[in-house]
Amino acid sequence: MKRYFVFAAAMMALPCVSAQTLLHCSDRTFSLPSVRYMHKIRPADSCATVSVTALPEGLRWNEQRRLVEGRIDTEGDYVYNVVVNGTDTVPVSLTVSSNLPMPTPMMGWLSWNVVLSNVSASLLRETADAFHDKGLYDAGYRWLGIDDDWHCGPERPADGIPAPNRDRFPEGMAAVGDYLHDRGFKFGIYSTAALATCDNKFGSYLHEDVDAREYARWGVDFLKYDYCHVPSLKLGDGTYQHQPTAEYLYGRMRDAIKRSGRPIVLYMCEWGSTKPWTWAHRVDAPMWRATHDHRDGWMGRILEEDVHKQGIGVWQALQIWPELWPYTGVNHFSDADMLCIGIRGRGLASSIILEGVSRRKEDGAFIKDGKPYLGMTSDEAKTEFVMWCMWSSPLMLSLDARDAIDPEDLAVITNPELIAINQDAMGQCAEYLGVRNGVQLWAKDLADGSVAVAAVNLNDDPVEYTLDLSEVDALDADAVYNARNPLIRSDEGSIKGNTSFVLSPHAVKVLRLYATD
Ligand code: GLA
Repeated sequence: MKRYFVFAAAMMALPCVSAQTLLHCSDRTFSLPSVRYMHKIRPADSCATVSVTALPEGLRWNEQRRLVEGRIDTEGDYVYNVVVNGTDTVPVSLTVSSNLPMPTPMMGWLSWNVVLSNVSASLLRETADAFHDKGLYDAGYRWLGIDDDWHCGPERPADGIPAPNRDRFPEGMAAVGDYLHDRGFKFGIYSTAALATCDNKFGSYLHEDVDAREYARWGVDFLKYDYCHVPSLKLGDGTYQHQPTAEYLYGRMRDAIKRSGRPIVLYMCEWGSTKPWTWAHRVDAPMWRATHDHRDGWMGRILEEDVHKQGIGVWQALQIWPELWPYTGVNHFSDADMLCIGIRGRGLASSIILEGVSRRKEDGAFIKDGKPYLGMTSDEAKTEFVMWCMWSSPLMLSLDARDAIDPEDLAVITNPELIAINQDAMGQCAEYLGVRNGVQLWAKDLADGSVAVAAVNLNDDPVEYTLDLSEVDALDADAVYNARNPLIRSDEGSIKGNTSFVLSPHAVKVLRLYATD
């Protein structure tokens, strides 16, 4: 078990390209006008003191909780100062606008996990239709993206203009865009910031302008921009220095998108390797992958020999997010990767690099303990979805919607009360409050003043857990709260001080707590 902790720590220690050294939280924030705003200030040195000066009207400093809060009605750009140890000042830029590219996390679908390279226009059309038929469109999943391997081949055409595989996209990409747009979806495409994609098709480096122009012509609304094959140097301390830097490479695509004239959302995918949460705003990227690929299981696996192919189970995500939560806000989201709920072990990409899972030689089936591998358990799948909601991660499904979806999974992914926690207009990430008896505790402040609290059982056995409200600084341990269980959509009466419950292995209990008058 220990090596996974080493891995998580090592990921976080990769070189940081940002000059930001005093704070362990964002210094660039966004808000919708007249919506509750919150910015939790955490210093890089946990012993340092912090205070805030020059706050614009409408905001105040909550010293006890170390956060700026309030609301601003007038759209515009604002600045306030965070003062560390009474001497060092860090300016924070806040943009208040009703016209942000991604005020709440993206909700949609990407092709990779289930079909791998088998992408086609018909897959996109059938997925769009299935999203309507199965209630996924109505639940909010409206951004559909083609991942890797749409290309006409490993090399771009001689005229330099990117072209899709003609057999699979016989009418071209613009026709796919039209089909999706006509049915109310946004359309996404995939490329990389290097000369080749992760699956060895042509990438966009040095061709950013022609690619962005062509994507704009196809009607593309978001670009998942990957990072394989970017040259990197291994430094003496075992970390990697990317050459040229990630910020430079993603900046080239930001500029090309601007020149294309279409507001294509730049969705970065460099797996958290250069701490994109500290610089994504400088390349106008409202969302970025924060980990290696998430797999359909609890426990991923580390491949020491290839850092770009690590397996991230739900457990690994739960180890990584305690470091990441202070960097999320409106229009500024760390992505925990495509959801594996609903795949139930049927994924090609999502069933690899998991602890104990192997592929049978004869038929390629995934096997665990001598039996077919069925992916996450129901409890693990619920924990995955609930925590992606708690973290304000984009909700990108990757199941095959053309197949029957397990009714229990469908109920979870369309649950409006969980989605409301994910799509909350204040855009906070749940704050990590620690682990006790192998149970992690997380709390998310929500725009209406209520607080969502989640307890996750990391143990392989059931555990009895007492949620002690005095451990949650957003709550008053002496007050009475009405508790709503959004996962099972029922009221749980009132709570004062604490409440106890039993958690199954790897299960989550989530409560939304409303103060009573
Ligand atoms: C990388 C990304 C995945 C997927 C594949 C495609 O591994 O992290 O999400 O896009 O490339 O080749």
